[in-house]
Amino acid sequence: MSGQPTIIVLGDPAALTRAVAERFEEVVRAAGHEPVSIALSGGSTPKRLYETLAASPFRERIPWRRVEIFFGDERAVPPDHADSNWGMAKSALFDHVPARAHRMAADTGDAEAYERLVRERVRERQDGVPVLDLVLLGMGGDGHTASLFPGTEALKERARLVMMNPVPKLDTRRMTFTYPLINAARRVWIVVSGADKRPVLSKCLRGEGDYPDLPILGVDPRGGELVWWLDEAAAP
Ligand code: 6PG
Repeated sequence: MSGQPTIIVLGDPAALTRAVAERFEEVVRAAGHEPVSIALSGGSTPKRLYETLAASPFRERIPWRRVEIFFGDERAVPPDHADSNWGMAKSALFDHVPARAHRMAADTGDAEAYERLVRERVRERQDGVPVLDLVLLGMGGDGHTASLFPGTEALKERARLVMMNPVPKLDTRRMTFTYPLINAARRVWIVVSGADKRPVLSKCLRGEGDYPDLPILGVDPRGGELVWWLDEAAAP
């Protein structure tokens, strides 16, 4: 890893969510009048975070009009489908705050269009790659993150920043950021909660596993910070 990751452990899921929300507020406010580009992750863990950010005091305190929301991955379903990350984040967060959100239309399969959008909206570059202010990630029990699953094609991609990734174990394709875009970010936060994640987290944090068997280990922001936000149940 480029820099040493920071590991922050909170007592329980509520404390974890609150701590991430407070740091999120600090990051957005520290940007002053500059727009803040944030990529959200899907799944169940971040839903609580998004609901917390959409409620008091964060709804009022965060200058949401400066926040521009992207998605790190999306399932190949319409936005109103139960599995849609957009649908989850819309109802949990951006139906309640005036942030601008850009849907990742994985149901169309047009990853190039989403890459063009990110390049157009995020002006700062690192070696030609847009520098997002914050990429929020989760981690699956198999060590996947975003839709970078073990043994899948997207793990090897170093040119395209967004792509459709066939996921045989799920018998589907998903649209996902690739490592070059994730690893160019100014901040990458991996939020992991629950005892079910402890075995794989132990492998990751104790160096007992290796990439690409554990895709989360390919997350290594070159010039940015990497923070693991954990609750005690998940922490090794
Ligand atoms: C998705 C996510 C995915 C998620 C992990 C963890 O679209 O599902 O982006 O990478 O972060 O699967 O999900 P949980 O938080 O639900 O365990």
